[in-house]
Amino acid sequence: PVGTEYQAEDATISQGVAESNHTGFTGTGFVNYDNLVGSYVEFAVNTAAAGARTLTIRYANGTAVNRPMEVTVNGTTVTTQSFPATTNWDTWVDGTIPVNLQTGANTIRLTATTAGGGPNVDRITL
Ligand code: GCU
Ligand code: CA
Ligand code: CA
Repeated sequence: PVGTEYQAEDATISQGVAESNHTGFTGTGFVNYDNLVGSYVEFAVNTAAAGARTLTIRYANGTAVNRPMEVTVNGTTVTTQSFPATTNWDTWVDGTIPVNLQTGANTIRLTATTAGGGPNVDRITL
């Protein structure tokens, strides 16, 4: 089924900025993470039923190097995911991660783990 989309620019941003100076994003823009360890975007996600989901993260990385991020769900680390280069900052691709959600309110946080910061993040889908 088609998932629910949560725009990064509408989420809680720590050490990053909502911007729209590249093409191809959805919604009203994307988040440009500050280029440092620890910058993050946190999404508030509500689900009717607990269980396994596929978390899809739409991102762009116009550099030549990976921009890994730690994925936490409700404060627990799920994985540190690679976000490799995407040709340029106007080219967006989906990364997918299996997660488990609880009934009702959930928080999903994507935190940069290297000095480059995260990639530019457009949205997540669940
Ligand atoms: C460029 C680009 C930004 C990006 C940044 C980065 O400045 O325009 O959108 O976030 O590089 O390297 O993180
Ligand atoms: Ca950045
Ligand atoms: Ca967006």
